[in-house]
Amino acid sequence: MEEAGREKDISVAVEDLGAATKDTVNISAKPTRRYPLLSWTTILALIALVGVYIFSVSFKQNGMLLGLMQTNMIEKQREKLCQDPSIPVTEIPYVHYPTPDTYSRKECACTPVRFFAILSMQRSGSGWIETLLNSHENISSNGEIFSIKERRSNITSITKTLDKLYNLDWLSSAAKNECTAAVGLKWMLNQGLMKHHKEIAEYFNQRGVSAIFLLRRNLLQRYVSVLANAHDSATKQLNGTHKSHVHSKHEAEVLAQFKPEINTTSLIADLKKFDKLAADALVNFKTTRHIILYYEDVVSNKTKLMDVLDFMRLPKRKLSSRHVKIHTKLLRDHIYNWADVNKTLMGTQYESFLND
Ligand SMILES: *[C@@H]1O[C@H](CO)[C@@H](O)[C@H](O)[C@H]1NC(C)=O
Ligand SMILES: *[C@@H]1O[C@H](CO)[C@@H](O)[C@H](O)[C@H]1NC(C)=O
Ligand SMILES: *[C@@H]1O[C@H](CO)[C@@H](O)[C@H](O)[C@H]1NC(C)=O
Ligand SMILES: *[C@@H]1O[C@H](CO)[C@@H](O)[C@H](O)[C@H]1NC(C)=O
Ligand SMILES: *[C@@H]1O[C@H](CO)[C@@H](O)[C@H](O)[C@H]1NC(C)=O
Ligand SMILES: *[C@@H]1O[C@H](CO)[C@@H](O)[C@H](O)[C@H]1NC(C)=O
Repeated sequence: MEEAGREKDISVAVEDLGAATKDTVNISAKPTRRYPLLSWTTILALIALVGVYIFSVSFKQNGMLLGLMQTNMIEKQREKLCQDPSIPVTEIPYVHYPTPDTYSRKECACTPVRFFAILSMQRSGSGWIETLLNSHENISSNGEIFSIKERRSNITSITKTLDKLYNLDWLSSAAKNECTAAVGLKWMLNQGLMKHHKEIAEYFNQRGVSAIFLLRRNLLQRYVSVLANAHDSATKQLNGTHKSHVHSKHEAEVLAQFKPEINTTSLIADLKKFDKLAADALVNFKTTRHIILYYEDVVSNKTKLMDVLDFMRLPKRKLSSRHVKIHTKLLRDHIYNWADVNKTLMGTQYESFLND
C-alpha cells in the first residue's frame, strides 16, 4: 500500500506538468491578433521573470530538491553495479548502496542497506526498543540525533544531517561494521519533525526511508513517566545523577518510589494534546512507507519486534536489552492523587486508561 502511495505521487506530478504545458499553449495560441507584437514580447518576458523568481524562491526554501535529485542519480549508478535480481521491483526504492566518505564498506559494498527512522515521543519506550534493535548485528540506530538544536534549526540542517546518517558516515556508539543492513535514528515528534513535516516526508519518500512509529496506547501511563522523569531530572535520585533509563531492579525501584501528583484541572486537555500529536504525525507521514508499533504490545509480546525485522527485510534474530522497566506496579500505585485522577477520567473517552 505504501508503494502505491509513492507511485500516486509521481503520477500526480506528471499530471501537474501536463496541465502546465496545456496552459502555456492556450495563452500563446489565442491573443496574437489582438495585441501588437511588442506588448506580447513584454508579456512573455514578464512570464519568464516570474518563472525565474518562483524558481529562485522555491530553490532557497527548498534547495534540498536539487540535492536529492543528485543523490538519487549517484545511487542509481551504484545500483547498476550491485544489481541483485532477487530484490523485487517494488523493493528497489527502499534498497541503497551507500559509499561512506570516512571508510570503505569493503566486501559489503554491495550489501543492500535500508533506511529507517523511529518516530516517537519522549517516554514511550523508544530507548528500550532502540537498544533491542541495536542488538541485531545488521542494525545501526544512532539515537536522538536531533536532540541537538542546531541540527534541526532549519530544513537545510536537517537534510544535511540525514544525508550524513544515511551515507553511513554518522559515527556513534551504534555504528556497526561495514555490513550494516539497516541504518536509522530515533526522532521525537517535537524535534523539528512535525514543524518541518512536509519537507521531511518528501525527503523520506524521495530517498526511500521507512518510518517505524512507536506510540503508547495508554497516555496516562506515559504522563506518569514524563512527570517522574522530570522529577528525577531535578532531584537526581540515584547518587546525584539523573537517569532516564536504568539497568538494574534496584535503580528502577528507587525511581519508582516517587509518585507524581497529576494536575486534574488540565489532565483531559493534556491527554487530548498528546493524542492529537500522535494522530497528526500519522496523517503527516501517511505517504511514507511505515509500520505502527505500540509500546504496550511489545511489552506483552516481544515477538512483535520480529514484525519490524520483517518490515526491514532483515534476518530474524533474538534481540536483547539491558534496560529494566521503571514503573511496574498498577497505575494507581504510581499516582499520588489517584482518587482525583480516577474521578476526572471516569465517564470520559480516556476512562480505559485507568485500567491497566
Ligand atoms: C549481517 O552482518 C553479518 C556480519 O557482519 C554479515 O555477514 C551479513 O551478511 C549481514 N547480513 C545482511 C542481511 O546484511
Ligand atoms: C540553518 O541552520 C544552521 C545551523 O543552525 C545555520 O548555520 C545556517 O545558517 C541555517 N541556514 C539557513 C538557510 O537558515
Ligand atoms: C550509590 O552508590 C553506592 C556506592 O557506590 C551504591 O552502593 C548505592 O547502591 C548507590 N545508590 C543508588 C541509589 O544507586
Ligand atoms: C493546573 O492546571 C491549570 C490549568 O492549566 C492551571 O491553571 C494550574 O495552575 C495548574 N496547577 C498547578 C498546581 O500546576
Ligand atoms: C506476538 O506477536 C507476533 C508477531 O506480531 C504474533 O505473530 C503473535 O501471534 C503474538 N503472540 C501473541 C500471544 O499475541
Ligand atoms: C474509580 O472509582 C470508581 C468509583 O469510585 C470505582 O468504582 C473504581 O473501582 C475506581 N477505579 C479504579 C481503577 O480504581
